[in-house]
This record gives sequence, structure tokens and C-alpha cells, in this order.
Amino acid sequence: MGAAITGWGSALPDKVLTNGYFEARLDTTDQWITERTGIRERHIGGTTRALAIEAGRAALSRAGLEGGDIDLVIVATTTPDQTIPAASASVHQALKCRGGALDVNAACAGFTYSLVLANSMIAAGVQRALVIGSDTLSRFTNFKDRATAILFGDGAGAVVVEAGAADDLILAYDLGADGTAAPLLFAEIGGYIEMDGREIFRRAVRAEVDSITKVFAAAGCRAEDIALFVPHQANLRIIEAVNARVGLPMERTVVVLDRIGNTSAGSIPYGLADAVEAGRVEDGDLVLLSGFGAGMTWASVIIRWGRRGVT
Ligand code: ACO
Repeated sequence: MGAAITGWGSALPDKVLTNGYFEARLDTTDQWITERTGIRERHIGGTTRALAIEAGRAALSRAGLEGGDIDLVIVATTTPDQTIPAASASVHQALKCRGGALDVNAACAGFTYSLVLANSMIAAGVQRALVIGSDTLSRFTNFKDRATAILFGDGAGAVVVEAGAADDLILAYDLGADGTAAPLLFAEIGGYIEMDGREIFRRAVRAEVDSITKVFAAAGCRAEDIALFVPHQANLRIIEAVNARVGLPMERTVVVLDRIGNTSAGSIPYGLADAVEAGRVEDGDLVLLSGFGAGMTWASVIIRWGRRGVT
């Protein structure tokens, strides 16, 4: 049973914080933030649940479906509004979906993990899955800490994955985790995000390069065959370093972090929806998604774009 992505959508809170906001309050400058991260502004506010519902509704509308057509909801998030119950349960209820609902916490790699999971569930008999990445990291950010405050934003993205395509959605995937890196990026219950940025940077580049190299080999393809690369949006210099090592050109790479900062699990589906809406991908194209995050976790997947027979 093949599968295809038939809908996509995204959501951001209205409030925008520019680099100037931090320049006025912390020992930092617009120039430092822009040159060291590529980020110019980020959106702050809302709840993980509300952003997930808005992105999910947009993806359903794009697919020409209603909530009742969906028989699996997956929400990738590391910032649920409540510890119990899962965010996916309220998304499921708000959109009037059927079947099951579960959350996936794999930090910024969460959406890519969830896409692999949805594809596997379709092979197991699910007809249509709504896969959402939604995070509100601003609620766990210390706005007095210049090393982290400038990086994060809130946002969500979503896709609909449907059974019935001529061939599989996923050509190859690689999922990884390394718990020895846990002390490098964490938030205690009730606490703020703490991070060794320099070491995360180093390990992120290494993990993504290894992971992308593995999926190229597994899919039997090369960088030239990839029409669009959607990397996790953490730092422009991480994206550039990965691209230089695996041979992917920036022209075929999605960069939205200048506008939204690091939105964790929201970043890859947000970037994908943005690129699709801009007409940057065509039926049959190979698209590479690759994310890394706290854990550390990382995940890369090569998909074939287009409805490919889904009616
Ligand atoms: N403004 C001005 N100076 C700053 C700022 C700031 N906002 N932040 C740090 N500095 C200073 C440091 O104090 C340091 O000063 P020193 O040389 O006097 O000690 C200097 O700038 C250089 O610091 P570095 O940490 O080496 O700066 P770097 O170039 O590595 O950039 C950054 C820091 C942006 C955090 C980078 O390391 C990075 O992006 N790392 C990856 C972080 C990441 O991706 N985290 C999210 C993972 S995904 C998830 O799960 C949420």
C-alpha cells in the first residue's frame, strides 16, 4: 500500500519579536544575532494546542478533507500545554477526527520521526493520518539569557498523509538518538531551556551529515537528485555547514528561520508548507527532510512528492 502527502498547512502566533527587541533589553545586537544565527525575527505566543489545530485545519483544507476523514492524529511536540493529557487528544477532538491520537516527543526531530511513524501506520491499515509539528518554546525560554532567548520562536506545521498512492511515500529514512548528549540541551520540569550552544552546533552538523549520507545510500540517490531540502531551522550556519559537506546547494534548500527562528518540531513542516505554497516542488520530485534536536535525536527522510494516484 503506497502513501502520499496530500495536504499541508502552518500556523504562527501574531506577536513578532525582532532582533531589535533583544538589542534594547540584553547585551546583544541585531548584527550579532543576524550574523551568528541568520534569525531576524520570531513569532511568540499562543498555545501548542491552538497552533496545532490551526495548522492541522489548513492541511485538511488543502487536502480537500474533513476531520472525520482522518483516522490517526500524531502531534510532534516537546512543549505540550499540559503534562496530561497529550496535545493530540484535544487536536483530535477540535477537528472531529476518528481513530487514534498520540504525541511524539523527539524535540526538533519530532516531525520527521512522526512522518516515518505515519507512513508505517498506513502500511498497517490506517487510511489517512494528520501529522503535526507544534511547539511553543517561548514558554520555556529565559528572556534574560542572551544565549537562548534570541533563538526560539513558536509555530506549527502539518501534513495529511493518505493511503492509496501507486508507490511508497518514503524512499529511505534514518532515525537516531544519543542520550550522552542530554546534558547539552534540556529543561527541567518547571524550568527554562539550558544549552551548550557551541557543542550542540558541532554535534548537529555531524549528526545531520551522517544521517543524510545514510539516506542517500539507502535510497540509491545523490545530492543532485534532491529537488528540495527542508532542514531543521536552528541556525543558518548549521544549514550551510551541512550543505557544504553533503553537496546540497542553498538554492534548493528551504530557509525560513530568518522569519520564524527555531520553532522546534514546527520548523520542518512549516518550511515544507512554505516551499510548496511558493511552487518550489513538483509532482515526482524527491524531497529531503532532516532534523536534529535535544536528546540528541535526529531524523532524515527522503520522500517522493505528489498525490501519485491518491484520488
Ligand atoms: N549576543 C552577543 N553575544 C553573544 C550572544 C548574543 N545573543 N550569545 C552568546 N554570545 C557571546 C558568547 O558569550 C561568547 O562570548 P565570549 O567569546 O566572550 O565567551 C561569544 O558570543 C561566542 O559564543 P559562542 O557560543 O561560541 O557563539 P556561536 O557562534 O557558537 O553562536 C549559538 C551561539 C548561536 C547559540 C550557536 O552555537 C548555535 O546556534 N548553536 C546551536 C544551537 C541549537 O541549534 N539549539 C537548538 C537545538 S534544537 C532543539 O531541540 C530546540
